[in-house]
This record gives sequence, C-alpha cells and structure tokens, in this order.
Amino acid sequence: MKKTILVTGGTGYIGSHTVVELIEAGYEVVIVDNLYNSSKAVLKRIEKITGVLPKFYEVDILDGPALNQVFEENHLDAVIHFAGYKAVGESVSKPLTYYQNNIAGSLNLYETMLKHQVYNLVFSSSATVYGDPASVPICEDFPLGPTTNPYGTSKLYNEQILRDVCKAYPEFSVVLLRYFNPIGAHQSGLIGEVPNGIPNNLLPYIAQVAIGKREYLSVFGNDYDTVDGTGVRDYIHVVDLALGHIKAIEYAFDHHGVEAVNLGTGHGYSVLQVKDAFAKACGKEVAFKLVDRRPGDIAECYADTTKAKEVLGWSAQYDIDTMCQDSWRFQSMNPDGIND
Ligand code: NAD
Ligand code: UD1
Repeated sequence: MKKTILVTGGTGYIGSHTVVELIEAGYEVVIVDNLYNSSKAVLKRIEKITGVLPKFYEVDILDGPALNQVFEENHLDAVIHFAGYKAVGESVSKPLTYYQNNIAGSLNLYETMLKHQVYNLVFSSSATVYGDPASVPICEDFPLGPTTNPYGTSKLYNEQILRDVCKAYPEFSVVLLRYFNPIGAHQSGLIGEVPNGIPNNLLPYIAQVAIGKREYLSVFGNDYDTVDGTGVRDYIHVVDLALGHIKAIEYAFDHHGVEAVNLGTGHGYSVLQVKDAFAKACGKEVAFKLVDRRPGDIAECYADTTKAKEVLGWSAQYDIDTMCQDSWRFQSMNPDGIND
C-alpha cells in the first residue's frame, strides 16, 4: 500500500517541489498550508507536472482542532514540516510573531503527531543554526549557535525540542535537514520561488533585476576574505533539495532517534560569480553596485556533504548554471507570481 505523507507548508517554495518529487516517487500526499506565503494555484501547477492533484487543507498549524481533524481523516505515515515564517529581518522586528508561528505551531504539530502515533518526521532546519562557523566546510558536529536573529533561534529551538522528544519517545524518528541556500525552480517553469515584496535573498533579487523590476543589484561588501571579496554561499537546486527529503523520509522509516544532515552541494560561489552565472543564463548583463556589508552577514558558508552521502545516500546533481537557467525560466514564465 502507498504510504501517505503530510506536508505542512506544501504550497510554499520548497514544499511544492518536494510534493512533486513525493508524488513522482509513489507517495500519497496531504498538504496543510494556511496560504500565508503561497497561493492555492500552486496545487493546479503540481497537478500539471505530476498528473495528480494533491489533497489540500487550508489549515493553520496553530489551530489545534483543525490540525487534529486532518490527522483523524487521513492515515498518515510521516510528516515533512516546512510551515513557518522565514524572513530573517522581519523576525528581528517581530520576534513574538516568529516564535508563536515557528515554535508554538510546531509544538502543536508534534503533539498531534504523538496523539495519532505518527512517529516519522523530517524537519526543515537551516545552516543558520551554525551561527558564524569557525571554519568551512561545515560539518554536522560543529558547535551550534549563537544565532543572530529570532528566525535562526526558532530553528535551533525546534532542533532541541525534537531531540528531547526522541529521547522521551524512542519510537520517534526525526531527520533534521539543514539547508544551505536553496535556489532555482522546477524544470517545467511551473513552480518556483515567489518572493513577498522586496526580495531579501540574492537569487530572487537578481532575477527581478534581470526582468526589469529592479534597477540594480546591491552587492553587500567586497572586502571579505574570499575569492573576489564578496560573500560565498553554498547554493543548492531546489529539486536536489526536494530529492533529499525523499531520501530522508526513507531513512526515517527504517530508523529511530534523531539525525541532523546538511543539504548542500559542498561548493561555494561568490555573489559576483552567481551574478555572472545568472547573466549567462538570461543572456543579458545584471546591473550591480558595490555597497557596504549587510550587518550580520558572514564571509563564507558551505557544507561538508559527506554525511548526506553516507547516511541518506544523497548528493546534489545540479550545477550553478542549471540553477540559474531554471530560476530564469520560472521568473520569465511567471513575472507576476503563481496566480492561476
Ligand atoms: P515558503 O514561505 O515558501 O513556504 C512556507 C509555507 O508555510 C508557506 O506556503 C506558508 O503559507 C506556510 N505557512 C506559514 N505559516 C503557516 C502556518 N502557521 N500554518 C500553515 N502554513 C503555514 O518558505 P520555503 O522557502 O519553502 O521554506 C520552507 C521551510 O524551509 C521553512 O521552514 C523555512 O524556514 C525553511 N528554510 C528555508 C530556506 C530558504 O532559503 N528558502 C533555508 C533554510 C530553511
Ligand atoms: C539567508 C538568511 C539565512 C538563511 C539562508 C539560507 C539572511 C540575513 N539570512 O542568508 O538565515 O539560513 O539565507 O536560505 O537573510 N547579497 C547581496 N545582495 C543582495 C542579497 C544578498 O550581495 O541583495 C549577498 C549576501 O551578502 C550574501 C549572499 O548574497 O553574501 C547570499 O545572501 P542571501 O541570499 O540573503 O543568503 P544568506 O546570507 O546565506
């Protein structure tokens, strides 16, 4: 019999790509999303790609009774938990909102899982839990924190909460996936990242400059100790990331306890290198200006991917050119986002 996976935040950027790969891998999918940062139209896009319209509940994970109802109505084998707020800057100005959604919402979900004896979970964590790492590449056993903003802290707390849950309930199986920098879009151009307002992250910003929505890219600092002075990150194709979740779910089914795994490519690219790769992908120059460093930024961040290979049998396949080409395809096919 097909296994059924509950995907919270399943109409969002990473969630929608993961739903596609789950369906392609033969899973039944149930999505819970309150549509705070995504659109119902994503469901039809998923159907267009896979031929399957996933079951959808417009439910807020903070709403205990509604969440319970979802568990009552479906026989769930596992949960992939994406739902949450993710804007770093906003989390600094609205800490309680972030803790309420990312911590209280998650607690609600974990309690409901326990009540219904659903013991397999994959959690969306982030490389942000490492704070400013002493060296690169970053291994999973590096010290965690201190985090520099409530968003990052909410990821760190969730990790700790889940470690405690696994200690108390040995039947629980949790994979903490620490994402590096997800970019790109599905090759179909039908789903991708739709930023809310002015993009904070590099790729959506570059894409909006390329399509003419923004005048130029501000490059935050060129005096870092890196290849060309600009910040270096481990950009990973969102489809690779989605495939990592399939491996993580399979792993969770066969194990107990908690495991933290980096999802990155193991290669770092500078801001200027990414800008150039994007320019190549879209066939035009991307205007930019060198400006001051962004407060809180680190110079370099990329993953040691050994554990993902050894424990999950997963490694990233797509290179930076493909990431930029797919990102550009999505941007040019959907200049106003996903609305129909
Ligand atoms: P996203 O905003 O596109 O998706 C999150 C989804 O969760 C949205 O569809 C939103 O409507 C939904 N949601 C938010 N609060 C909810 C609630 N209370 N109840 C139900 N649904 C709710 O974000 P994403 O980029 O797909 O990120 C998914 C997860 O991965 C998040 O937890 C994020 O923190 C984490 N993450 C993202 C990145 C990144 O760069 N995108 C990096 C590391 C970790
Ligand atoms: C961001 C988040 C981090 C999260 C990570 C993974 C912030 C402050 N941090 O960090 O919590 O874990 O994504 O998704 O948002 N840059 C520019 N100009 C821009 C935008 C970015 O030069 O307009 C540079 C940055 O200085 C950095 C690089 O591009 O060197 C990547 O930036 P960004 O996409 O925001 O990702 P992170 O800084 O890694």
